[in-house]
Amino acid sequence: MGGLTSHWDALAARFGATADRSILSLFDEAGRAEAFSAQTGDMLFDYSKTNIDAETRAALIALLDAADVAGKRAQMFAGAPINDTEGRAVLHTALRNLDGGPVLVDGVDVMPGVLDTLTRMRSFAQDIRESEITDVVNIGIGGSDLGPAMAVDALAPYHDGPRCHFVSNVDGAHIADTLRGLDARRTLVIVASKTFTTIETMTNARTAKAWMQAHGGEPQAQFAALSTSEEKTRAFGIPAERVFGFEDWVGGRYSVWGPIGLSLMIAIGPKGFDAFLRGGQAMDRHFQAADWSENVPAMLALVGIWHAQVCGHASRAVLPYDQRLARLPDYLQQLEMESNGKGVQMDGSPVAVSSGPIVWGAAGTNGQHAFYQLIHQGTRVVPCEFMVAAEGHEAELAHHHRLLIANCLAQSEALMRGRSLDEARGKMADAGFTGDELERQAQHRVFEGNRPSTTLVYPKLDPFTLGQIVALYEHRVFVEGVVLGINSYDQWGVELGKELATSLQPVIEGSAPASTKDESTAALVGFIRRHSA
Ligand code: F6P
Repeated sequence: MGGLTSHWDALAARFGATADRSILSLFDEAGRAEAFSAQTGDMLFDYSKTNIDAETRAALIALLDAADVAGKRAQMFAGAPINDTEGRAVLHTALRNLDGGPVLVDGVDVMPGVLDTLTRMRSFAQDIRESEITDVVNIGIGGSDLGPAMAVDALAPYHDGPRCHFVSNVDGAHIADTLRGLDARRTLVIVASKTFTTIETMTNARTAKAWMQAHGGEPQAQFAALSTSEEKTRAFGIPAERVFGFEDWVGGRYSVWGPIGLSLMIAIGPKGFDAFLRGGQAMDRHFQAADWSENVPAMLALVGIWHAQVCGHASRAVLPYDQRLARLPDYLQQLEMESNGKGVQMDGSPVAVSSGPIVWGAAGTNGQHAFYQLIHQGTRVVPCEFMVAAEGHEAELAHHHRLLIANCLAQSEALMRGRSLDEARGKMADAGFTGDELERQAQHRVFEGNRPSTTLVYPKLDPFTLGQIVALYEHRVFVEGVVLGINSYDQWGVELGKELATSLQPVIEGSAPASTKDESTAALVGFIRRHSA
């Protein structure tokens, strides 16, 4: 980070010089919308409704160059071990490198293995689609759940395979509610776990196996596994022909492109899945080739850095005006926060600026009637990332889609423009208020405005476009991670809780004393034990 200090200082100076400026005033210069947007194919990323001007953008791009993002990008695509706390390459891009040539890890081309697994997945998925199977239950958690679950919802119009269900939580309610009503003889269970050791997934997998055995199904024939551990899938009793393996250079939260996407492939078919991969590959090519100012992932990252690390906004909201992307915020929470929510740099020294921001959000228009109040009038600024398709799938409901777009664009306009006290006074006067009461009422109707947002517009949410969107956010995380000096590809922060849960289990069961725990934890255990059967 040392080498970036002068760049952070320059950006802080830009912030100081422009913080009070109105975003709206930047539009006095004609052509801002085009100059402050980037495009790839038919996808447009508009960041003109932020306080970034040409000088700030140049300072942000200088930061990218000083952090050698281009060099690190080349290393990532070339299979260098950039996940250096685990000594691993980061090559989820190889999973979508359909016709891109060899990718070497330790001098060995990984592509034959990737393509061979893809061919096996296609044939398995096709067999399942043509079989008596009516329901597929994917059991996995984190990256082994959120990616396929989000993508299956997103691509609902393309479903022509069996129904897909996702069980992640170790709460028995999740699996009980999912299996209730399913026919065990016509259900395929996919156990998705990179490590095949995750306690939630293995507990749910054993419960599903017992359920299938008890209800006339045949786990031997109706279970498949997605994992890097052949040995553990064999020990669980899943025959090798229904095990789809991948390598440790695919991180869990980056794994939807390979075997972990099997449920998606079964739902939409191998051709649809190929289109999803091609969308990801198209974004990879754009990310590698486009100049920074035209590079959508890089600019998305720089806008993120400007808001989080320079302006100091602690969170950002992802607001897809697309009901089928309702799970995208959950997916991005893992992708961004598990990747860049870290306090140390590669060399073990503390991160010099704040780590990645809190990511949250919900589908529009629902969020408007829930939390947008805070976004418009709360005292904290929440940079918003709007997304909307130019066209919906429901041709007969095109008027719904026009209304959806109008709402999306209205929100970013309202955030930028706000409403002044004078305008609020005018409204109150029109409503018949006078004197002190007019003044008091007007104060409540003021919108400060000047709140930044970006808007991503894509033609239609089809498999190709979804692939582009997911890869776009992956590369954004990469760029932000490089600039922060963070290893975006490990997740040590999830370990301590796992260890303590293991040590607490016997305490809760009563086979170990609570006295080894702090007083609060011991009291909670005691209360729970007294109130459970
Ligand atoms: O606990 C975090 C984590 O390791 C995630 O990174 C991962 O996606 C998830 O658990 C599930 O892991 P696995 O696929 O090995 O079951």
